[in-house]
Amino acid sequence: MAVVRASHVWKVFGRNEKEVVKRIKAGADRSDLTDLGTAAVIDASFEVSKGEIFVVMGLSGSGKSTLIRMINGLWAPSDGTIEIAGNDIGTMSTTELRQARRDHISMVFQHFALLPHRTVRENAAYALNLQGVARGEAIERADTWLDAVGLGGWGDKYPNQLSGGMQQRVGLARALAAETDILLMDEAFSALDPLIRREMQDQLVELQASLGKTIVFITHDLNEAMYLGDRIAVMRDGRIAQIGTSEDILTRPTDDYVANFVQDVDRTRVLTASSIMQDTNAVVRHSASPRTAMRLFERERVSGLFVIDSTRHLLGTVSDSSAVRAAREDATALSDHLETEGILTVGPDTPLSELFAPSSTARVPLAVVDDDNRLLGVIPRIAVLNSMSQLGPATGEMPLVTPLPATVEPQDDIDPSLDDSDAPEPKPGIAAAGNADEPAHAASSTTTFPDGTDGPDSGGPADDTKGADR
Ligand SMILES: Nc1ncnc2c1ncn2[C@@H]1O[C@H](COP(=O)(O)OP(=O)(O)OP(=O)(O)O)[C@@H](O)[C@H]1O
Ligand SMILES: [Mg+2]
Repeated sequence: MAVVRASHVWKVFGRNEKEVVKRIKAGADRSDLTDLGTAAVIDASFEVSKGEIFVVMGLSGSGKSTLIRMINGLWAPSDGTIEIAGNDIGTMSTTELRQARRDHISMVFQHFALLPHRTVRENAAYALNLQGVARGEAIERADTWLDAVGLGGWGDKYPNQLSGGMQQRVGLARALAAETDILLMDEAFSALDPLIRREMQDQLVELQASLGKTIVFITHDLNEAMYLGDRIAVMRDGRIAQIGTSEDILTRPTDDYVANFVQDVDRTRVLTASSIMQDTNAVVRHSASPRTAMRLFERERVSGLFVIDSTRHLLGTVSDSSAVRAAREDATALSDHLETEGILTVGPDTPLSELFAPSSTARVPLAVVDDDNRLLGVIPRIAVLNSMSQLGPATGEMPLVTPLPATVEPQDDIDPSLDDSDAPEPKPGIAAAGNADEPAHAASSTTTFPDGTDGPDSGGPADDTKGADR
């Protein structure tokens, strides 16, 4: 169930809210109505589920803070409804609203809003005092949450004795100590310097893994949005331009505005193994006979197969040469001919940036497995290389595959000490075309077969090449 639900929510600041809503609904442009009021949020609808980090991203003035203040009940929508845990907050009395806020919602602000004359512990316990929690328990809970955010032992200090990053941790501890199910964070990390900011992002992700809060996180930092958000809403001029996962927004932007907005994002941090993994039919059960395996080698035109059990747990690989050997020995199953060395597994959420190194050394395609080591898909090296070459200049990546000149003109002015004419002939395929980047370099140490593996003796299964240019 949605913990937060916004349905066609509008907020107009000004003399005549309803009139502005009416006129924009009838097709007027908000910029022509500034005499009547500022339409800060226009027809916003979304749901945030339990345990989700929902990021609202947009330029300054796009309506992010106004939106979060309506969720918090600080502003009443000019039109539309906001529901918290299924209850429309527009129909609540002031007392009910205050109660709902206290029970359900905590906020973390950009400027830490700590009370300067209270200790760190008292600040962390602040919301608990408001909730009427007994002092002893409040102090205990405050200390627990200060510990959780890495501030154990700092409870007796005052805010001005702490760095900015530490003060924001107190803000976070204060919000967490209230133990509400919803956490609203408005540019909570924006005032921090980049390293501390990254630490706080990591900490939030880590805490969220065990807390499972419903978080609405506002930022105008794209990389932060992409790193934290399970889903992201991109706001433009009061409207939500797109809602989707970071991958949706990067790979399927709804319009040019969103596409331009996200063009500088570091895709290697955002895209994951699951976005480039491929299905493979080069898979065989461990109980299968060597002859079945040989038929598969032929049908799939590969030199190795992944071996799984009946519930797709990955057990190893078998090469075509081992299968032939097993058949000659009249083996009934492949189990005794498994190879377990040299397979590298990654999780579906492994960022692209972490696939380059394993892929460059792997003798077989990377296997993508779930937490139980069940095979979800494979990533041949060529898919990693392709994904890099499609990243575009914004990431600063060099194109990986540079065509060799058809003929090499003799050059008289070349420094003889640089002459590498004794070097071995370039290998075919990727190795020949690659520049000095690591993956291609590693590929050049072995013969690369068109199927993306190191050939029949690699002991590894290969994916066929048809999906490799996806
Ligand atoms: N209290 C207010 N009275 C009048 N106009 C307001 C008020 N609060 C916000 N606005 C206007 O509403 C629009 C959206 O403002 P909002 O603060 O929601 O933007 P934002 O996306 O949070 O921007 P920023 O990234 O700068 O924080 C702006 O045009 C702003 O001037
Ligand atoms: Mg704001």
